[in-house]
Amino acid sequence: MNDRLAALASSAQSELEKAVTLDAVEALRVKFLGKKGELAAILGGMGKLAPEERKALGAAANTLKTELETKITAALTRVQDQALEAELKGPRLDVTLPGRGVKPGHRHPVSQTLEDICSTFARLGFVIEQGPEIELDWYNFEALNVPADHPARDMQDTFYVDGKQVGVTKPKAPGGDGVGEQVVLRTHTSPVQIRTMLAQKPPVRAVMPGRVYRKDSDQTHTPMFHQVEGLLVDEKVTFAELKGTLDAFARAFFGAKSKTRFRPSFFPFTEPSAEVDVSCVFCAGKGCRVCKQTGWLEVLGSGMVHPNVFRHAGYDPSKVTGFAFGMGVERLAMLRYGIDDLRTMFENDYRFVAQF
Ligand code: DAH
Repeated sequence: MNDRLAALASSAQSELEKAVTLDAVEALRVKFLGKKGELAAILGGMGKLAPEERKALGAAANTLKTELETKITAALTRVQDQALEAELKGPRLDVTLPGRGVKPGHRHPVSQTLEDICSTFARLGFVIEQGPEIELDWYNFEALNVPADHPARDMQDTFYVDGKQVGVTKPKAPGGDGVGEQVVLRTHTSPVQIRTMLAQKPPVRAVMPGRVYRKDSDQTHTPMFHQVEGLLVDEKVTFAELKGTLDAFARAFFGAKSKTRFRPSFFPFTEPSAEVDVSCVFCAGKGCRVCKQTGWLEVLGSGMVHPNVFRHAGYDPSKVTGFAFGMGVERLAMLRYGIDDLRTMFENDYRFVAQF
């Protein structure tokens, strides 16, 4: 019996030394120490022995079991170390590969453009005012001299929600009477003109950036977009100052060589009204595909504040005059960066936004 134990000890020793995988070591453990393994087989034959012999053999078998367990653990460690060693040496793991860097983010081209517009006007002494995106019909249209039946509403058609149902009523503003209690997502930033004037006495010199909403969607229109509104009110403000201000803005924003031109237009809230073009930033006014060979790009609407707008805002049109303007931020960003599809601005495709 003792011979069999000795034989098991030496074969286990040599086989464990040869094992090179975790599976092979595990197979040897089963072979020697498993329930049906070699040690169990030897102990199974103990019944035939005399009690003293049995005791001695039992003790020897236990010692061998402990020894084998220690050797198996050592073999497992060795096999694992060898595997790691081989992995570190071999080509499979390239420890020289640089880590994945975290790139710093930056603001969206629309935000950059909006901030540039506002800071350009800030240098001309304009402060920033803001108003709500959910707006009363009265501020969005009526106070701006666009009554309910006015055809100019067509251009900014939108959804109207009954103000009484959502718990709002028309403001008690000077000159505000009749309808105007309905609620809309503001279709332009012009209502902020009214809110600004109602909140303070003249003079006013402010720009009003923000989101606006219309039921438009195609290559050059999205249902939500951004505008920057401008308003300057004081005694004896003239159209010449409007021209000078917007000309200075165009040169600061598009470059010192930019020219502006004013074309007669119509907006209910200004009289007279003008559409402002800048010389094409792509061809410097020579004529190209973007400016449709005209050399000019339309960039904003403007005019002298209509007396009715002053009346609705509580200002006396016999004492003050002023000018106003409104521009589309996405449109200016498209011109500045040469983007030809407005919708890409809001798809949030990283490959697009990372370019600006
Ligand atoms: N609110 C106009 C629009 O969204 C733009 C505009 C035109 C604003 C003339 C003005 C202005 O303040 O004077 O189409």
